[in-house]
Amino acid sequence: MSLNVLISYHSDYGNTEKMAQAVAAGARAATECAVTLKLATETSLDDLQAADLIIFGTPVHMGSMAWQMKQLIDRAGKIWMENALEGKVGGVFATGGGFGGGGGGVEGTMTALYSHFLEQGMVVIGFPKSLPGYADAGLQWGPYARCGNHEGMPQSITEAQLVAARSYGAHIAETAQRAIR
Ligand SMILES: Cc1cc2nc3c(=O)[nH]c(=O)nc-3n(C[C@H](O)[C@H](O)[C@H](O)COP(=O)(O)O)c2cc1C
Repeated sequence: MSLNVLISYHSDYGNTEKMAQAVAAGARAATECAVTLKLATETSLDDLQAADLIIFGTPVHMGSMAWQMKQLIDRAGKIWMENALEGKVGGVFATGGGFGGGGGGVEGTMTALYSHFLEQGMVVIGFPKSLPGYADAGLQWGPYARCGNHEGMPQSITEAQLVAARSYGAHIAETAQRAIR
């Protein structure tokens, strides 16, 4: 059975979009799946319901998720009433400036996304530390690309961060495929 994967994300400057594409590439390389990549603002409730595996990606904005992701989450409240996402599999990834060398709110951001999935009755899959890329861009919740330099200025995604995104995409798709078989 082919896995239906939805990767829904927000990106103003392209960093999170590059991560989304790498997660998609990892899923495609590891499984027989159909991957749909969509901006959160263009993601419909039908898109959510059609997916077996839903992966949300966001930049950290002011210590939490971009409002475009929260708007999608709030729109999905309508199908929460119908239990429509129960049993689906969810995962997350994020990018952030990480000013000062810390996460700048990324942990709260990722756990808030998972909290939504769990409220919807979904099963969630994090990022095991043994996978490629974890040391460079791994958090237990999913890949996180820190895109700010030491002076707090934006810099682009590195290949090492994309390795983490690809390995997470492969891992979550393989695990979801086993779960829904
Ligand atoms: C309005 C705004 C608020 C931000 N707030 C944070 C923040 O609180 N913590 C952080 O680590 N990075 C923060 N950043 C940096 C972005 O998360 C980072 O540059 C990210 O990679 C941008 O992703 P994008 O290229 O997909 O838009 C902020 C960026 C913007 C534009």
